[in-house]
Amino acid sequence: MLDKSPRPAAVNVPNDLAAHWMPFTANRAFKKAPRLLAGAKDMHYITVDGRKIIDAAAGMWCTNAGHGRPQISEAIAKQAAALDYAPPFQFGIPQAFELASRIADLAPAGLDHVFFCNSGSEAADTALKIALAYHQIAGQGSRIRLIGRERGYHGVGFGGTSVGGIVNNRKMFGTLLTGVDHLPHTYDRDKQAFTRGEPEYGAHFADELERLVNLHGANTMAAVIVEPMAGSTGVLPAPKGYLKRLREITQKHGILLIFDEVITGFGRLGFAFAAERYGVLPDMITFAKGVTNGAAPMGGVLVRDTIHDAFMSGPEHVVELTHGYTYSAHPLACAAGLATLDIYRDEKLFERARALEPKFADAVMSLKGEPNVLDIRTIGLTAGIDLASRPDLPGKRGFDGLNSAFHDNDLMLRVAGDTLALTPPLIVSEDQIGEIVEKVAKVIRAVA
Ligand SMILES: Cc1ncc(COP(=O)(O)O)c(C=O)c1O
Repeated sequence: MLDKSPRPAAVNVPNDLAAHWMPFTANRAFKKAPRLLAGAKDMHYITVDGRKIIDAAAGMWCTNAGHGRPQISEAIAKQAAALDYAPPFQFGIPQAFELASRIADLAPAGLDHVFFCNSGSEAADTALKIALAYHQIAGQGSRIRLIGRERGYHGVGFGGTSVGGIVNNRKMFGTLLTGVDHLPHTYDRDKQAFTRGEPEYGAHFADELERLVNLHGANTMAAVIVEPMAGSTGVLPAPKGYLKRLREITQKHGILLIFDEVITGFGRLGFAFAAERYGVLPDMITFAKGVTNGAAPMGGVLVRDTIHDAFMSGPEHVVELTHGYTYSAHPLACAAGLATLDIYRDEKLFERARALEPKFADAVMSLKGEPNVLDIRTIGLTAGIDLASRPDLPGKRGFDGLNSAFHDNDLMLRVAGDTLALTPPLIVSEDQIGEIVEKVAKVIRAVA
């Protein structure tokens, strides 16, 4: 007979970590030395044993307005009491329409429609599906190829994994989607090391798209998807002129251009969207994370008028796009999103990030010369610090850094292999930037 005896009630520290198979986590190492969090306020997490940890990662590129904002939690609570759930297919809630309009207002003119989903992965897959469907209804059904970029990250759906370019994320999962190709990544350490902002070198990497057009034929190509700053691979800002060049080539060949702004959206680079920083208008922008300050799952795709309008034909009782999620525009996420956008506006957090960018860059660049530091890249309020790998153990120095930061230095950072990534909430003070950098220096020395 199955043993159904009750488990001990969960308390602050669970006594059994076995059941939870953690995502993107070294499970066995974690369960030997857990990094357990119990609370968060402004720039800090509180651990289950009561330590205050400064958050240099905005959780996971999410909490741009800092943690524990009462405006957001109260909006979520109020919404849960008033309307817990509403079906998003064939029904709607006013808050979803309001939030879509507010996001479209923040986006470059022309990107006036928002399709909601629940995560960055869903946003990437949604954008790719819209691209394919658009070409089909526009009478160009031969356009089925999707182009990503080496070292790109677009989440973990089959579409996003296929156009993604981080080998460890792809190699376990078979052939993925067919008809996918990749541009080269834009990083060349010899020519770009220790750059603040956009590297001077590398716009020509966009020209590789012409090579793919020559190889496959423009009439087979549906869309190109890139992050304006590749985040998860370790912070690779686009070289100067690269995104403009990509726009010119895609436009010339009738290929849609998608910016994945799941990280760069909502102020990370000092603007509502990186498209604005770079003066480039893509056909779609994906977003997630910062849209709700991480307080409720939400993602979405901003879509150009011309693309949206192409779907609005045929009999009016027929669903125009057979795509969507049970939790698209969930009431709690909409409430969180509206409250979050109020904070971004009222506290001018995007402008704040822009003003802090040079100071942040100066502070992080001071780590040049610390042991094993091979390169530092900064952009907006984000930095990547490449450490030399331990011999034959790629990723181990980075992993040791994560642990040293959390357990010994009261610091949360992100790691990508042996790259330390800093991406603090946009409310970070200059003193806190100094504190973070001091702690990172200690971490780097500890793992030397
Ligand atoms: C650029 C980009 N796209 C997509 C995703 C996937 O988002 P999610 O984890 O919410 O599915 C991420 C997550 O970090 C991301 O950085």
